[in-house]
Amino acid sequence: MALSIRANRLRAGAMPLKPVRSSTRGSVTLCERVRAPVRAAAAAVAAPEGAKATDWAAETKELNNKSPLEIMDHALATFGDEVAIAFSGAEDVALIEYAHLTGRKYRVFSLDTGRLNPETYQLFDAVEKHYKIRIEYTFPDAQETMDLVREKGLFSFYEDGHQECCRVRKVRPLRRQLKTLQAWITGQRKDQSPGTRMEVPAVQVDPVFEGQSGGDGSLVKYNPLTNMTSAEVWNFLRIMNVPSNKLHECGYVSIGCEPCTRPVLPNQQEREGRWWWEDSAAKECGLHSGNVVDSAEAEAKAEAPDLWTGGAVEALDKATLEKLAGGDRDKDTMVVLYAPWCPFCQGLEPDYEAVAQEAGGAGLRVAKYNADADREYSESLGLKTFPTIIFLPKGSDKVVKFESDRRTVESMTMWAAALGARE
Ligand code: ADX
Ligand code: SF4
Repeated sequence: MALSIRANRLRAGAMPLKPVRSSTRGSVTLCERVRAPVRAAAAAVAAPEGAKATDWAAETKELNNKSPLEIMDHALATFGDEVAIAFSGAEDVALIEYAHLTGRKYRVFSLDTGRLNPETYQLFDAVEKHYKIRIEYTFPDAQETMDLVREKGLFSFYEDGHQECCRVRKVRPLRRQLKTLQAWITGQRKDQSPGTRMEVPAVQVDPVFEGQSGGDGSLVKYNPLTNMTSAEVWNFLRIMNVPSNKLHECGYVSIGCEPCTRPVLPNQQEREGRWWWEDSAAKECGLHSGNVVDSAEAEAKAEAPDLWTGGAVEALDKATLEKLAGGDRDKDTMVVLYAPWCPFCQGLEPDYEAVAQEAGGAGLRVAKYNADADREYSESLGLKTFPTIIFLPKGSDKVVKFESDRRTVESMTMWAAALGARE
């Protein structure tokens, strides 16, 4: 693969993520300045190669340090007609702008679930016109959709979770689409979710879906925006005058289907507006379920060293936790239900430790319970995913769950203070 030559040339013409002047909005001159060198570079790239002919671990290492434009160019140069951009109708329109900037041909598909917002359909139309492309829409299977809504109604996901409806309206159509491709390109970013997207690489062998040739390793997944922050994406969209979804003007950040998306409040994580009635780590609809830690894999990690061993966080055994949960409480108590192998629990370790240290001596006990020891019991306390934080207020038998994805020292401390017993 002629990546290094291509990457060097592209670097020379690469798109600045933080543009020099925001007053250039709508400027044809800037767009042309950026596009011209990129097109020249694109013309020099070698012919596409197949998915299985490549050492993807090495490519991942290399591409993780490249710009979104270089990653996009790699995808289009490598797979030609057999790669397509998955466009959800939100800020991932940046993918289309990057593809356009490479000067190469590109394909775009969207999963029309039948439940998208009107503003999303309007954006699809605007994008088709702006880039003079046709989006390849996919629809859910009519029979499966009828079976689901006739049996369970139109809003069953509020009752028994979004997985079944997403499977019918999104995942199966996606599976069919991907079976026609060797690679796909998504708009996933690390900063979209500290819970499930922290590890998204620039490119990976798709851990879940199959491509054209079938079987493991037959599909490659590119995530060109993974290292961009939301602010960088939005700077880029504005400076390039890219059409955007009108819902973004009404407080929506992450946008999916209409019944399952709502605006977020200032400082909430962007995916808190998606499937808000469910647990945070369950918020992968199946399109990117490879992001969620597989339980078999988790079992294999059971040898991982314990967390919070410094002493500031009190270790509870089941009998003590049972007493506290039953209402026998001398103090307000915050408990993290965790598993030592869980990367999200490991990520939480410094902040939760800091909460414990700050609380030291005050009226708050900060504790931990290794929920792997008895998952069934832990589930009765609200555990659905690791880590789960619960609060047991003094003088009551209530168990209150911390619902936010935002597990910072400030938010956990503030939450505990708000719920704490007033002397
Ligand atoms: S989701 O899994 O929760 O729905 P999210 O909305 O964050 O995903 O989008 C991440 C990426 O998944 C998008 O940038 C896009 O590549 C792909 N994606 C999500 N929804 C769709 C859709 N309806 N059609 C095509 N691609 C989609
Ligand atoms: Fe169904 Fe909601 Fe999933 Fe859309 S996001 S497919 S409406 S459950």
